[in-house]
Amino acid sequence: CGIVGYVGGQSALDVVLAGLRRLEYRGYDSAGVAVLADGGLAAAKKAGKLANLEKELADRPLPAGSTGIGHTRWATHGAPNDANAHPHLDNPGRVAVVHNGIIENFAALRAELADRGHALASDTDTEVVSHLLSESFSSCGDLAEAMRQVCRRLEGAFTLVAVHADDPDVVVGARRNSPLVVGLGDGESFLASDVAAFIAHTREAVELGQDQVVELRRDGVTVTDFDGAPADVRAYHVDWDASAAEKGGYASFMLKEIAEQPKAVADTLLGRIDEAGQLTLDEVRIPASVLREVDKVVIVACGTAYHAGMIAKYAIEHWTRVPCETELASEFRYRDPILDQGTLVIAISQSGETMDTLMALRHAREQGARVLAICNTNGSTIPRESDAVLYTHAGPEVAVASTKAFLTQLVACYLVALYLGQVRGTKWGDEVGSVIRELSAIGAQVEEVLETMEPVRELARSLAGCGTVLFLGRHVGYPVALEGALKLKELAYMHAEGFAAGELKHGPIALVEDGLPVVVVVPSPRGRSVLHDKIVSNIQEIRARGARTIVIAERGDEAVRPYADHLVEIPPTPVLLQPLVATVPLQVFACELATVRGNEVDQPRNLAKSVTVE
Ligand code: G6P
Repeated sequence: CGIVGYVGGQSALDVVLAGLRRLEYRGYDSAGVAVLADGGLAAAKKAGKLANLEKELADRPLPAGSTGIGHTRWATHGAPNDANAHPHLDNPGRVAVVHNGIIENFAALRAELADRGHALASDTDTEVVSHLLSESFSSCGDLAEAMRQVCRRLEGAFTLVAVHADDPDVVVGARRNSPLVVGLGDGESFLASDVAAFIAHTREAVELGQDQVVELRRDGVTVTDFDGAPADVRAYHVDWDASAAEKGGYASFMLKEIAEQPKAVADTLLGRIDEAGQLTLDEVRIPASVLREVDKVVIVACGTAYHAGMIAKYAIEHWTRVPCETELASEFRYRDPILDQGTLVIAISQSGETMDTLMALRHAREQGARVLAICNTNGSTIPRESDAVLYTHAGPEVAVASTKAFLTQLVACYLVALYLGQVRGTKWGDEVGSVIRELSAIGAQVEEVLETMEPVRELARSLAGCGTVLFLGRHVGYPVALEGALKLKELAYMHAEGFAAGELKHGPIALVEDGLPVVVVVPSPRGRSVLHDKIVSNIQEIRARGARTIVIAERGDEAVRPYADHLVEIPPTPVLLQPLVATVPLQVFACELATVRGNEVDQPRNLAKSVTVE
């Protein structure tokens, strides 16, 4: 969910709505706002996208006020309808609360409130908080103190922001787990899940830590822990360009982010290679002596980041000869994995907030493993809780379906793999320089791919009526196939599946029938040519059964041409690096199919970019 709070000289409603627009990627099942005005509190909320709320506000405007809060929701408990939308008010509507997370002991608290005569209007856990806050405020007369008292009674993961009509120049926030960032302006203060919400107003930010309460006033903020003791906070300057959070002429954020990939890939490499061609990953604060002792690498991640992790496994094992497994973060801790001080866990996450990944890394650290985060969001929870972090520097990614973050995660994984090789002195450690040169050339190759995508878009448009698309790959092309299928599911809502091409004959080939589109990612004919030859046979097998083959192959690969109904050529790269170019046509393909099918590319149904529940 996305949260915004504001107190200052501007129209709180305007600031909050603009902030929510920037946070809609965090959820868009419903949205709501509350403002303090004329000694009272006015609120509006609506199911569906923010545009529904904006229409409601146009029809029934709220009074103007200079203190306000807002929320955009990704539903966990309760249907995404008007009643369950945030904010939730107390009775008689003096307190408004927005909330991200789950309050586990809400049933007990609710029963207690009912005993004391409170009439609750909804079944939500958030409403319980507004009633508790109202009670505490009545006795202590201070909203921040009331919030601390309430937080001490709550169990579970929650981030809360509240206003009270009797304390009209104050917004109070509390953080446990999901992020909350303060923006310090001139005579105004902001509070949000992500700096994107207030970057148009200020670049001075303060990051709240776990279990902290902030009191926001026009002239500054006060941060304490849940017991009221002053808390240490980290202040920082947001250095990314505000325009990075705008579409900049593209029809969607996704198209913009696909186009930004050459630069994103280059930025991830920037400053990490010294003059001697060696890697200098200063942020990897794990000493070389410890990395030399690592006897197992485990990668945990979700969604697209998981696919980056699958590819990393090939690179890590090949370049370092250290056993590596990649696991879905949501499965990891529940199977009692074997971890110790010799294990290096790599947690990959664009947002740095994915709860499944966070829980996996906490579990790993409890078992004594070292955790290295690969993350795109500065200061987010996953890097904060890890032993070390390698930032991907992709810039803000707004579209829900990940594109440039994926490519930069791959680059970061290659860097980690090479770095491990370098410090451990493996044979591949000596090759660091040449692989880095090849990696440095990738940006231009991605650019080349982007310039030749019109036939891919045309093909996508011709497949708009299809029910199913299959994706096949081998070696690092297998995760690429999975990623291609995921993109198509996320964006086009089509049935799509990715398979290891060799596994096809063990079952999935039964799906092949006349005209079924099958995308095949073909490894380079150079290098491991045995892989190439095997996949050429796989293409023949499906074509013989009527499949319409869409073949992604290296330029100049004449062997596949006779079997390709559609050939998409990509520049030649080393085998392990091919995913960096091979994924791009699949992103473009899914984006175009979604567009012709009339879907919302940036905000696909039911999804959220940052999933802060398990
Ligand atoms: C969500 C998004 C996916 C993303 C996954 C992991 O499910 O919809 O696009 O890949 O989370 O996100 P993370 O921020 O941890 O990389």
